[in-house]
Amino acid sequence: MSQQKIHGVWSNSWIFVLAATGSAVGLGNIWKFPYMAGENGGGAFVLVYLFCIALIGLPVMMAEVLLGRRGRMSPVNTMKRLVEEGGLHGAWTSIGWMGVFAGLFIMSFYSVVAGWAINYVITTASGTFNGADAEQVGSIWGGLLNDNGTLLLWHTTFSIMTGVIVALGVTKGLGAVARYMMPFLILALFVLLAYGVMKGNMAAGLDFLFNPDFSKLLYKYVEVNASGETVACSGELIHCEKQLTYEPTLKALGHAFFTLSLGMGAIMAYGAYMPDHSNVAKTVVTIGILDTVIALVAGMAIFAIVFANPEVSPAGGPGLMFQSLPIAFGSMAGGQIFGTLFFLLVTVAAWSSAVSLIEPGVAWLVENKDYNRWVATLILAGSAWLLGITAMLSFNVLSEWTPIFLFGKTPFNFLDFLTSQLMLPLGGLFIAIFVGWKMSKTIVAQEMDAEGHPLFEIWMFVLRYISPVLVGVVFVFALIDSLS
Ligand code: PFF
Repeated sequence: MSQQKIHGVWSNSWIFVLAATGSAVGLGNIWKFPYMAGENGGGAFVLVYLFCIALIGLPVMMAEVLLGRRGRMSPVNTMKRLVEEGGLHGAWTSIGWMGVFAGLFIMSFYSVVAGWAINYVITTASGTFNGADAEQVGSIWGGLLNDNGTLLLWHTTFSIMTGVIVALGVTKGLGAVARYMMPFLILALFVLLAYGVMKGNMAAGLDFLFNPDFSKLLYKYVEVNASGETVACSGELIHCEKQLTYEPTLKALGHAFFTLSLGMGAIMAYGAYMPDHSNVAKTVVTIGILDTVIALVAGMAIFAIVFANPEVSPAGGPGLMFQSLPIAFGSMAGGQIFGTLFFLLVTVAAWSSAVSLIEPGVAWLVENKDYNRWVATLILAGSAWLLGITAMLSFNVLSEWTPIFLFGKTPFNFLDFLTSQLMLPLGGLFIAIFVGWKMSKTIVAQEMDAEGHPLFEIWMFVLRYISPVLVGVVFVFALIDSLS
């Protein structure tokens, strides 16, 4: 196949599993999942998230890998090719285009957070957090968020690190990342879990993560402020009104897409480099299980440490990992080494995910413009870097800049919202409809290597009816919620 010669192929299907897991496992698992669970009610959020992974994430992931392997090109050209093959409307290629932009948008804020993690490797290793209390850690964190020179240095460093791997190409770059980084990552997480069991409060952590209380997911407390606007409740609960909300549910759905790298072509691009003979369903289930286990292990380790320190709140938001863990590490024996290991691990995980964020766009530039991979990477990573500066400034000079066209959010929050809660679920919805309803069932069955298999029929049913309907329902309710 000529496309395989342009981009290369994974040397075997195990490398595909490692690379796709490398894409899936990242800041989403270690930074975002714990703080979202912490903010959105713990167990109930986790349950909805797991439900979304099983009924929407995995079926859509199989569809996305299948599209990539059938098209064998960048997501944009893969979609073009499959649209031509099926004689379908050209509008379907927008799945590919939306993915290129979603990848760019995610990369822009992803790289800022990864930059924080790199900074914390150094801060933790130097012993700065040893014995530090909540106030000292808080001021170190606040100091970093206001230090644009340092933030820019690490944002730039991470963009370059990612660019180099992408430019090296699939076999040399991405394949090597997968081969060496993933086993290290998994090992380090389990070391951290053992640390949580021995030194943290695992019972409280487990209770928080796995004991669902749906009222925490479905209700929020609001109050009317002095200007007559309804805002999140800030005072005592007696003065607040209880309101039904679907936003946390949409967040759980969006996070299922984000954490599995779905709905934007990253997995499609990786699928294009997959050997012909490998089994799509089995590899996808392996990736899904690895990703979920890693998120849960990270959550357990983090909350065991959080609950061992009463001054740390589980609802600490995006700063949870950076504000609370150093207090825990600083007050525990061996915390300097484990803390350094932890932030190194976060950086590595972010790195192997970030490469897949710009790969779809780079592959398209190489195919269509005949650019070499270095130039293509420079264009993509450079644009994300530039946009990322607005995300970086969202925590200092732009923190009050929440214009209407950004839905009243800071650039950082808007980029996250736009991608996780809108673009990825929509991309996933279209992928499910495309494979479930538009492609010829014979071709789909051939690609899955599963003609007539009962599991194939079940998957088709879920992809056609369950996944799109669930995404649609959550979307509509969340929309009504935000309009009312
Ligand atoms: N799955 C990554 C994470 O959990 O951190 C983030 C991500 C990577 C999202 C690649 C989307 C993507 F295409």
